[in-house]
This record gives sequence, C-alpha cells and structure tokens, in this order.
Amino acid sequence: MPPHDPPRILGVGGSPRRGGNTDLVLARILEGAASAGAEVEGVHLRDYTIEACTGCERCRKDRTCTRFLDGMHLLYPKLEGARGLVIGSPTYNYNVTSMTKSFIDRLYPYYIFTDERPGGYSSRLAGVERRALVISVCEQRDIGEMGLTLEALSMPLEALGYEVAERFPVTGIFERGAVRRHEEIMDAAYEAGRRFALGMITK
Ligand SMILES: Cc1cc2nc3c(=O)[nH]c(=O)nc-3n(C[C@H](O)[C@H](O)[C@H](O)COP(=O)(O)O)c2cc1C
Repeated sequence: MPPHDPPRILGVGGSPRRGGNTDLVLARILEGAASAGAEVEGVHLRDYTIEACTGCERCRKDRTCTRFLDGMHLLYPKLEGARGLVIGSPTYNYNVTSMTKSFIDRLYPYYIFTDERPGGYSSRLAGVERRALVISVCEQRDIGEMGLTLEALSMPLEALGYEVAERFPVTGIFERGAVRRHEEIMDAAYEAGRRFALGMITK
C-alpha cells in the first residue's frame, strides 16, 4: 500500500499579544502534530490585515470576498489546502478576540446558500474530511469565565464542515507567556497536537 501523504495542519493564532499564552500553546500543539508526521504551518492573525465583514453578500455570487482585497486572500488558500485546523484565541470578555471574529466572519464565502429566505446552506469546505482543534486561554481559574469562547470557535467551524476533534481550554493564566512555566499544560498541548495529527493519519 502506498504511504499516506502527511496531513497538512494550519495553525491560526488569534491573540493580539505577540509571545503571549495563546501563541505558546498553539506552537506547542503544532510541535506535537509535527512530531506525529503532520506538515504544519502557523500564522497569526495580527500579522494580516483583516477587515470586518460588512454583509455586502457579494461573495454569494463571486464565491470569494470581492469587497476587500486584504490579508484574507493570503489565508484562504492556506485554509483550503489544510485538512486540519488548529485555532486559538485568548478569552476577551467571555468570547473570542475581535480579530478572530473577523477571521471567522470572513469565511462566509465558503457557504453556498439556497435562494429562499431564510435559506438552507452547505459549505464548499465540506468536500473533504476536515478536523479542527480549538484552543482558548483565560485569566480566571473557573472554566465558566471562559464564557462562550470555545463555542464561538467550534460552532462556525462545524457549520463549515469541520469535525471539532478536541477543545483545549487553558484557565488561570494571565501574564504574557506565563503558560511557559506550566510544564503540565505545555506537555498536554504537545500530546493534544500528536493526537490530533495521528487521528488524521489513521482516518
Ligand atoms: C480585553 C480583555 C478581556 C479579557 N477578558 C477575559 C475574560 O472574559 N475572562 C478571563 O478569564 N480572562 C480575560 N482576559 C484575560 C486573558 O484571557 C488572559 O490574560 C490570557 O492569558 C491572554 O492570552 P494571550 O497571552 O494569548 O493574549 C481578558 C484580557 C483582555 C486584554
């Protein structure tokens, strides 16, 4: 039997804070995934200009965003080319950061809508099996203080055709990079990355 192509996994970081906790956890998960044989690439949304969706609906016809020719057009091919997506956002006010939300909203061109209102929908990304791992980091210890963040990441990805294989919440971490001192969290992140990649290899 021919060997499988290594799965490609895109890591998307949604923290405005360079070198922060989300960056570190995401990097560790990607290291774990690479150690299991995946081809990984990490990007940070703060390094891209991503306008907020204006709801012009042009993408329904144009099948891509023709309202803004911004950084999303560099990210669309990366997303399409990867069967795995690891996406992380720190919790900001019980939810994802605004740059993460803009990124998610700008995935709207992948939907195919029917003409009636309210319309049914399907996703252009659903043609191949795609899996996601979602991460959030928050200051408070109580997971309730993470609020909606993991759902806000998972639900739109599921609607787009991803299976959310794992949620990776990290609570009780505040200062930039403080998570580095928590060996148990960093080890768990590495293992989660390995598991995620191995799940794609054996599928
Ligand atoms: C604007 C803002 C809102 C925040 N809201 C929450 C919150 O709702 N719950 C919480 O536990 N921590 C909250 N935090 C703390 C961050 O989630 C925490 O510091 C996290 O470690 C930041 O991750 P980063 O280093 O990847 O940026 C907030 C921080 C900021 C700057």
